[in-house]
Amino acid sequence: MVGYEGHRGWINYLAVRPDCQRQGHARQIMEEAERLLREAGCPKINLQIRSTNTEVIAFYKSIGYRVDDVVSMSKRLGADEPYQVEPL
Ligand SMILES: CC(C)(COP(=O)(O)OP(=O)(O)OC[C@H]1O[C@@H](n2cnc3c(N)ncnc32)[C@H](O)[C@@H]1OP(=O)(O)O)[C@@H](O)C(=O)NCCC(=O)NCCS
Repeated sequence: MVGYEGHRGWINYLAVRPDCQRQGHARQIMEEAERLLREAGCPKINLQIRSTNTEVIAFYKSIGYRVDDVVSMSKRLGADEPYQVEPL
């Protein structure tokens, strides 16, 4: 999921099926996400990862992302709508 609200680009829900991981798919997906955001004039991408998700942090570091010195805050306004995802 790639979004741009005019200030920062945001990435959500990057995932690769477990049996297809470590073949470069996420790197390719992120290259395309960055291309789309650059084309839209976006100067910086932000994304959030649970601090316990060390493998994903390692993935993003390997493609050039760094940990920012920020505090992430949130407020729940209601239940999330479940996404309907068709199996491949
Ligand atoms: C994170 C994720 C999307 C990576 O997908 P992927 O297709 O396996 O990643 P790539 O093959 O493009 O990896 C590129 C590089 O990232 C690093 N990397 C990827 N997975 C890693 C892991 N588990 N541990 C350490 N480094 C990792 C490696 O440097 C890798 O290069 P290499 O395979 O040549 O060593 C995948 O592990 C995933 O779907 N995780 C579960 C979902 C999730 O938690 N998403 C994040 C939500 S915030």
